[in-house]
Amino acid sequence: MPTTCVVGILWGDEGKGKVIDYLAADTDFVVRFGGGHNAGHTLVLPSGKLVLHLVPSGIVHPHTVNVIGNGVVVDPLHLCDEVAGLHERGMQVELGRNLLISERAHVILAAHRRQDEWAEKVRGSGRIGTTGRGIGPAYSDRCARVGLRMGDLCRPEALKNALTALAEQKNALFGPAGIEPLDCEQMLKELLAAGEKLKPGIVDTGAVLRQARRDDKRVLLEGAQGCLLDLEHGTYPFVTSSHASTGGAFSGTGMPPHEMKTVGIVKAYATRVGEGPFPTELHDEVGEKIRAAGNEYGSTTGRPRRCGWFDAVAVRYSGEVSGADELVLTCFDVLRGFPLKLATGYRLPNGDVTTALPAFDLERVEPQFVELPGFDEDISAVRVFDDLPANAKAYVQAIEEHTGLRVGTISVGPGRDQVIQR
Ligand code: IMP
Repeated sequence: MPTTCVVGILWGDEGKGKVIDYLAADTDFVVRFGGGHNAGHTLVLPSGKLVLHLVPSGIVHPHTVNVIGNGVVVDPLHLCDEVAGLHERGMQVELGRNLLISERAHVILAAHRRQDEWAEKVRGSGRIGTTGRGIGPAYSDRCARVGLRMGDLCRPEALKNALTALAEQKNALFGPAGIEPLDCEQMLKELLAAGEKLKPGIVDTGAVLRQARRDDKRVLLEGAQGCLLDLEHGTYPFVTSSHASTGGAFSGTGMPPHEMKTVGIVKAYATRVGEGPFPTELHDEVGEKIRAAGNEYGSTTGRPRRCGWFDAVAVRYSGEVSGADELVLTCFDVLRGFPLKLATGYRLPNGDVTTALPAFDLERVEPQFVELPGFDEDISAVRVFDDLPANAKAYVQAIEEHTGLRVGTISVGPGRDQVIQR
């Protein structure tokens, strides 16, 4: 099948960057379809660690065309910096050749970042714990039909008019809320300068991708965040503002729905950054030990990630919502020396046990665990499933049994080659 979609199964940070990098070697196009620079996709290359936020992870393969689709929200100043950083590392990034940006992708403005911070303050104890990158406000403006699109950066007159109208609207709200008003002149200057740099890459990417499909090119759709952060299917309201699950892959690229392979990425344990329910969260020293062993700190904000046991209820739900054909199990090496626990059901406040993910009161469920014996061996050099310790194999089999999903690949370390294919 020429199209593959890679999505995070829980709340992001599952190691999608490594998997995309691995798959991109055999791919013509790598396409981001949602989110923005709230994402942080980490790749461990022979030259060292690389964290990408907006540029698709296929950029490290010179033959792939990397596309920032229309479903992404783009901070043009950040994108210029990210591209400059890649150039500094000696990487070949050529706008218009191997990096394309949808002219329809919406723009994140400095005002959106300020609005994001302000909204979090107003929410108080109900805060979402956003990345503070202006993601929610930019998507809100898109829905309110007042947003700017990347193509506007190449149309100075239209950009000026749209910015003036937007500033009028925003400043009317910002003033009474005590938020610094928009400086239209300054913003216009910055956006035009960014537009000048990015212009060769700002195109109708939907048309490019539809042509790619007609030419039978191999397309890899790079999900950002995870299914449980999906605006509609996630743990609302503690979600991001985009369609992070597979559903966003078509609307966010302009490719019509078609048959594809969907790969769900999930860690061998669970993590979450930001606020919101997390049924299997560990609040004790075991959680801290997993955080230390897995270096679980956000690659975008540096925040410590909350850690917990594998949640088969949530994984099964996300697998169904995303249409995952199989799982890639990541960070398995991190669990060396830990007991292996997975939640197979939730006890609801009324005493019933369910294997379905409830839409409400997730913070009130009590996970029902099964515990398996752990493994003490270093598995980071294992490349064949049968060479894993018996307890590690039994854990993978238990995950398959309780999620109903096949584990097709296991990652046993951050390096490109630290992979077990089954
Ligand atoms: P926003 O996307 O910045 O609005 O943040 C909304 C929620 O999504 C917060 O809980 C963030 O921590 C979370 N989030 C956004 N992007 C990522 C990501 O790439 N990985 C993990 N969590 C994320």
